[in-house]
Amino acid sequence: MAAGAGGFIASDLSSYGRSRPVEEIREAIIKPNQPSNGSRGTVTIETRAGQTLTGVLRNEDNFSLQLQSLDGAFHLLMKSDVASVKRDSNSLMPADYGSTLSAGDLNDLVSFLISVAQHDKSPDPKKTEPSDEEE
Ligand code: HEM
Repeated sequence: MAAGAGGFIASDLSSYGRSRPVEEIREAIIKPNQPSNGSRGTVTIETRAGQTLTGVLRNEDNFSLQLQSLDGAFHLLMKSDVASVKRDSNSLMPADYGSTLSAGDLNDLVSFLISVAQHDKSPDPKKTEPSDEEE
């Protein structure tokens, strides 16, 4: 999601391009599986009722799992209702943008993220000051 448009599966990118070097933004798009890009991996769950869900694991304890599926919806599942859990360390984000997009397309995406961030009014996450600092 950026500037209120898009999906809920990954972090909000509205201010992402504000203080990052162009090269870092490009890398995040073409190499989503780098540990430095914070990849959480992908989980596929099959329920005993025969439903298959793919997404990101948001929470887990001994008895339950919370999965956010690709459409952004949250699913609270009791482990007793789950038949199998497949964990894949690969990011949900497609890893092939470096080959499926042209250099021009990638430049456009990087420019878009930088320009969206220029208009974003939220505090810069990279420059978070102690909360007693008033503006
Ligand atoms: C051209 C389209 C896309 C762009 C420009 C883009 C851009 C980005 C960027 C810049 C990040 C890094 C965010 C950070 O480090 O805070 C990111 C992370 C992520 N993106 Fe994308 N993305 C795109 C498409 C997608 C799609 C189609 C999906 C899922 C189906 C996706 C899923 C994710 C996830 C889950 C992360 C978090 C890191 C991880 O868990 O691997 N992205 N994306």
